[in-house]
Amino acid sequence: MIKDAMATLALAFVPCPKLTLPLPAERIAHVWKVDLEEARDPILSPDEQTRAQTMRHSEKQRHFIRARSALRLILAKYTGLSPADIPLATATEGKPHLDLAHAPHFNLTHAHGKALVAVARVPVGIDLEFPRPVRQLDQLVADYFSSAEARDWASLDEEDRARAFLGAWTRKEAFLKATGEGIAGGLHRFDVSLLPDEEARLKAIDGDVQAAASWTLHAFTPFENAQAAICLAAPNMSLLGFTL
Ligand SMILES: CC(C)(COP(=O)(O)OP(=O)(O)OC[C@H]1O[C@@H](n2cnc3c(N)ncnc32)[C@H](O)[C@@H]1OP(=O)(O)O)[C@@H](O)C(=O)NCCC(=O)NCCS
Repeated sequence: MIKDAMATLALAFVPCPKLTLPLPAERIAHVWKVDLEEARDPILSPDEQTRAQTMRHSEKQRHFIRARSALRLILAKYTGLSPADIPLATATEGKPHLDLAHAPHFNLTHAHGKALVAVARVPVGIDLEFPRPVRQLDQLVADYFSSAEARDWASLDEEDRARAFLGAWTRKEAFLKATGEGIAGGLHRFDVSLLPDEEARLKAIDGDVQAAASWTLHAFTPFENAQAAICLAAPNMSLLGFTL
């Protein structure tokens, strides 16, 4: 895997026309890129249909339906089940998982009509964000970043701050999505790298550097201007990119 000028991963995405795929190898995670503006037949469970019906915003509803349908198509390749029969269950904190023996771990993120799905043998979290005007970055950093992250952020020039903020945010969400805790898991209690020349890395969890070393964190740019991060509960994991 090659790093680009911003120390993020230059991840290539190749089409995957195959109907079935073996589970990713032990040290590899698959990352799927999905365009939610592309029309696709909806494949939803009754629960997902009910959830879609509660969404008032038509674009949000369309993207939810297409993201879940794409997720089912992708998981069908690994399980050999038909997309409609994929047994998706949801943990208390909201993380979807497969209710199936020997199933792969996966995670989904969507933003601005694009989605990413990560599939691996270990717990995984993935996050995708596009730049948007954010006021009072200083306050958000004070509220949500750890003290080590806040120090790094304050050391940056003004013009690097918005990008570094978004990069750190995707890394932090990816970790909390990997554990399944979501934002409620506490954004303060762990440190990620955020300086422009630093590789994406989980630096410490509750101050414990050893604990952080048993995770992999990568940052990459799957769509123009986007920032994405993936976090995996194992060290030294590589990525393989596919388009649906
Ligand atoms: C989950 C969360 C991190 C999502 O972040 P986001 O940037 O808004 O959205 P993303 O597009 O990256 O991710 C959304 C997807 O993550 C998955 N997801 C939901 N909850 C998750 C969790 N706790 N852990 C991992 N993945 C989760 C879902 O697939 C969801 O998409 P879907 O609803 O269309 O299926 C964030 O919304 C959050 O933490 N929410 C609070 C959850 C919480 O604390 N609940 C407490 C119990 S009520």
